[in-house]
Amino acid sequence: MRIIKLDAIDSTNTYLRDLSSANLLEDYTVVSANKQTKGRGQMGAVWSSEESSNLTFSMLRVVSFLESDNQYYLNIVAALALTKLLSRYNIPKISIKWPNDILSVDKKICGILIENVIKQNKLSSSIIGIGLNVNQTKFINLPKASSLKLINGNHFNLDELLFELIKDFKFYFSILEKGGFLVLKSEYESLLFKKNKPSTFKNGEGELFSGFINGVTENGCLEVMLEDNKMQSFNLKEIELLY
Ligand code: BTN
Repeated sequence: MRIIKLDAIDSTNTYLRDLSSANLLEDYTVVSANKQTKGRGQMGAVWSSEESSNLTFSMLRVVSFLESDNQYYLNIVAALALTKLLSRYNIPKISIKWPNDILSVDKKICGILIENVIKQNKLSSSIIGIGLNVNQTKFINLPKASSLKLINGNHFNLDELLFELIKDFKFYFSILEKGGFLVLKSEYESLLFKKNKPSTFKNGEGELFSGFINGVTENGCLEVMLEDNKMQSFNLKEIELLY
């Protein structure tokens, strides 16, 4: 495993994507940064993280073995690797808020940004960006954010966490490479935040509605049982869980 450690960069995802387009990189090449000046989150959001306090890194994985119809399994692998790591460190009440925010005690401690490289209509490689809040203890204007240190009081070694997390990625990627879709999906669904609990959602038009999260579809949409007992699936732009 090759780790490129940077002091500061705009975004480790952008850096690794550019690097991989110009060079042949080995699997699990990691770019980590103490500071990102333009950290990126999902759906165009900004990802901010206190300098040198957290894990902010991106990892490259060759995924030409995966059909593009199954690319949601990369989110599943990433979320499961994180939950496995955190449970080893005794972080309580870990859940996955669809599609792949990692929560502990209902607070977000980790975000994942996956950007796939497609060549000639086929998946080629995946840039998996992880922002794990580790030793940061103040989150200004982010009432739903937390960190490992806030949750259990310990100061964590970032290098050790990164090394351990890559091991967990390797574990779940080996299941994916063997075609273990069912086992991955059912483990992921068992960890879904608010699964089978009455929940309120907002749709793309800003209207509120109620339902129960049932699971995810093969292509990563959220399956919700609505009040009329009809199951409906929603993509990321169509639904927001309010909590
Ligand atoms: C989210 O929850 O919105 C996803 C956040 C992902 C943040 C990480 S930090 C390392 C990598 N580089 C980025 O610019 N973003 C990801």
